[in-house]
Amino acid sequence: MNVLAIESSCDETSAAVLTDGQIRSNIIATQLIHEQYGGVVPELASRAHQQHIVRVVDQALAAAKIAKTDLSAVAFTRGPGLLGALLVGASFAKALALGLNIPLIEVNHMQAHVLAHFIADAENPNAKGPGFPFICLTVSGGHTQLVRVDAPLAMHVIGQTQDDAVGEAFDKSAKLLGLPYPGGPLIDRYAKTGNPLAFKFPTTEMPGLDFSFSGIKTAIMYFLRDRTKHNPTFVADNLADVCASIQHTLVQMLLTKLKRAMQETGIKQVAIAGGVSANSGLRNALDQLGQEQGWDVFIPKFEYCTDNAAMIAMAGYFKYQQGDFVGQDVSPLPRMAM
Ligand code: KG4
Ligand code: ZN
Repeated sequence: MNVLAIESSCDETSAAVLTDGQIRSNIIATQLIHEQYGGVVPELASRAHQQHIVRVVDQALAAAKIAKTDLSAVAFTRGPGLLGALLVGASFAKALALGLNIPLIEVNHMQAHVLAHFIADAENPNAKGPGFPFICLTVSGGHTQLVRVDAPLAMHVIGQTQDDAVGEAFDKSAKLLGLPYPGGPLIDRYAKTGNPLAFKFPTTEMPGLDFSFSGIKTAIMYFLRDRTKHNPTFVADNLADVCASIQHTLVQMLLTKLKRAMQETGIKQVAIAGGVSANSGLRNALDQLGQEQGWDVFIPKFEYCTDNAAMIAMAGYFKYQQGDFVGQDVSPLPRMAM
């Protein structure tokens, strides 16, 4: 049983092959064109997907030593994401499924981030993932959600951001520091040698389990304006401390709500997923909090944190087992709900 999966929701063109529940290949082409614009330009993303998709799919099949004719199903990201970008992956998947006369499977990108925890691969052939139910903090460039996961395909959002996503807060803060896009990984890197308590930024606390990250961006903007007024080299002189302080603030905002979600639900198993789950400050702080609280903590492998088709294949595999297929009339959903 071989599933080919395609991911094209944002700025990564990716294809993966899964055989009998195990990932055999996961090819990712990252679009570097956006760096010069300081963010993802949707039209350019769509064009770059068109340029890369045939090669990426061929490489994924070759790496898995699978011929197209051996495929049992094609899975693709239906949403959420950029419409023009999603259209490329969806059209490719539909054409391939039609040509090979095999089932087509739609996948929700955010569900797939959560299901990345169940990926088994050559390195980890018996990976099991968390038991159910568990709470997943899903943190990416477009989303920040607390999800209660009752079964692989039964997820409920119990809290979410009311404005920016935490990945956006990382990227926008990095931009204010003059760092290139995407700045999240760079803040992470500079933070490693900085003092997380060097600077304090005011934060907005939302009621319940919701988040707000737009205020912190403004707070950092004013902070930098004040500090650089009389000291133009402030950022260069204090980059590590500023990055460590920003990262610490964002991580604490996430963990405060996560802790509340765990208390309210009484669930003891917790996971993180999405691009920001690659952040070392978040990974370390969660590990520590988990030990203090007696939680079982699940942290994904780095290659399955940011966008990849292996997670789409995993989600597709769960749906394949349930016979959950879609017809050729399916179209992308930029704002697809969990
Ligand atoms: O899940 P993802 O690859 O794409 C979306 O679905 O959005 O997440 C991308 C986001 C970006 O905002 C990027 O800056 C952030 O994840 N990110 C990080 C790190 N690695 C990726 N943020 C902080 N620290 C990192 N190490
Ligand atoms: Zn993503």
